[in-house]
Amino acid sequence: MLDHEEVVIRVGRRSGLPVILAVHSTVLGPAAGGLRIWHYPDWRDGLTDALRLSAGMTLKMAVAGLPSGGGKTVVALPEGTRLGPDRRRAVLQDVADVIASLDGTYATGPDVGTGPADMAVIGETTPHVFCRPEESGGSGDSSPHTALGTIAALRAVSRHLHGTPALDGRRLAVIGLGRVGEHLARLLAAEGAELTVTDIEPGRRATAEALGAVWRGPEEILTEDVDVVVPAALGSLLTREVVPRLRCKAVAGPANNQLATPDVADLMHRHGIVWVPDYVAGAGGVVNAISTELHHAGPGEARARVLAIAQTVGELLDAAAREGLTPARAAAETARRRLRAAASGACGESASLASRGWGHLPRP
Ligand code: PHE
Repeated sequence: MLDHEEVVIRVGRRSGLPVILAVHSTVLGPAAGGLRIWHYPDWRDGLTDALRLSAGMTLKMAVAGLPSGGGKTVVALPEGTRLGPDRRRAVLQDVADVIASLDGTYATGPDVGTGPADMAVIGETTPHVFCRPEESGGSGDSSPHTALGTIAALRAVSRHLHGTPALDGRRLAVIGLGRVGEHLARLLAAEGAELTVTDIEPGRRATAEALGAVWRGPEEILTEDVDVVVPAALGSLLTREVVPRLRCKAVAGPANNQLATPDVADLMHRHGIVWVPDYVAGAGGVVNAISTELHHAGPGEARARVLAIAQTVGELLDAAAREGLTPARAAAETARRRLRAAASGACGESASLASRGWGHLPRP
């Protein structure tokens, strides 16, 4: 059964490419979620991705305590397609038309394959876009904030595993040195972590070397003997087959949809590996963008909200240990409770949101 409120598939009249916009839920508020422009073997794979990613955004918002819903847009490029500047602009205008036709039900932001400059183009057509460059009136690149939120999550994991949030001397394997991964690797190197890194782009090896990180091939890094594996690229890397070969104590990173299938969370738990749900660890970007652009929080407050991911992860890991659940189930339960409370118009959650300094947020 389709679990989404609305899915629009439109062939862009300028680009001829399929624009797939999925609004999963607006129960907590108008939906938000990034625009992914990526290659897929078939456009239907892009549809599958949009459906899963938008559902993940609903969970991301709910657990972060944001009064927003979940959505995502995917432009499915045929393999091997290169977008020159004109075609790229055409694609973005096609996307902007679809967003505008939803009239505020959904706002987009950056994701894999897009950034602030693309958001500025979308902003020429519709105001429902986050993370335009600051000079165009937006909150700018979300990736440093996603990276900072991931650091907060990693501190909570470190506290859980080692009794201290300090990351110096911890062995971390960062998968992907894209926008978020590179920021993350820099922050971790500055903290004195021992880094192993990879990227599908061999050219990024120079970045690794500049950071003093060990480089590994993308297929080797997942099974490195490290404290924490940090997925910061594409999803579906945690499969039933790979879990028995993992040698880390925990997996926690910002890549969306890390599990190939939902049962992998239980399997990791049985293997004694802590998995922090991606939608919890990777919320820093949307938390900053929505706090700044919708709630008019200043930089200090937005940063505090991003850093509160440490508290959220700590509470989830504690609740999971106490109740004998996986962190995935504990997080899903938190999300379900907030969605149910909002759907029934109750405000039973306001106490826990207020304890994070969120009490004055506009409620949907
Ligand atoms: N790519 C971001 C995410 O997955 C999406 C996003 C960022 C949406 C910033 C809006 C604003 O969380």
